[in-house]
Amino acid sequence: MRTPHSHNFAGKTRVSVLLACAALLAGCKKEPAAGPVPGGDAQQGLRLVTQYQCGACHTIPGVQGAAGEQAPSLAHIGRLSYIAGGIPNHPANMMQWLRTPHAVKPGTEMPPMGLTEQEARHMAAFLYTLR
Ligand code: HEC
Repeated sequence: MRTPHSHNFAGKTRVSVLLACAALLAGCKKEPAAGPVPGGDAQQGLRLVTQYQCGACHTIPGVQGAAGEQAPSLAHIGRLSYIAGGIPNHPANMMQWLRTPHAVKPGTEMPPMGLTEQEARHMAAFLYTLR
């Protein structure tokens, strides 16, 4: 369809892609590993990660007292291509991992934390700020 509206939309999309690439300054990947989480609020995520004490096991920059050593550091989790040793790192997988780690990787030592979907969404948004 070549309605003025769809043309306009495509133009806006192209501009924001260009802006995103300019902001990265390090080249433009078509599919970033992590990417933004629609509906996720990183500030809320930070609060939740603190509240649920993920830092008992994980070292997490910016989270007070989060210096755990029995699990991988989350310092660069937003840059990783895979989480938990082989799961592609994108928002849907991250949210499922956070809510039901055993469903994603049977036998994992990461416990389910009883998160709601929205809590996992906010946490994923926060985790993807760690790069
Ligand atoms: C009881 C300890 C423990 C707690 C509490 C815990 N985790 Fe984990 N987490 C682990 C372990 C162990 C792994 C590695 C699992 C694996 O690879 O099988 C892991 C893996 C992860 C990964 C993937 C890391 C990577 O580098 O691939 C993320 C992301 C993560 N946890 C986030 C969280 C968040 C967010 C919370 C709080 C809601 C949390 N974890 C609470 C033990 C924990």
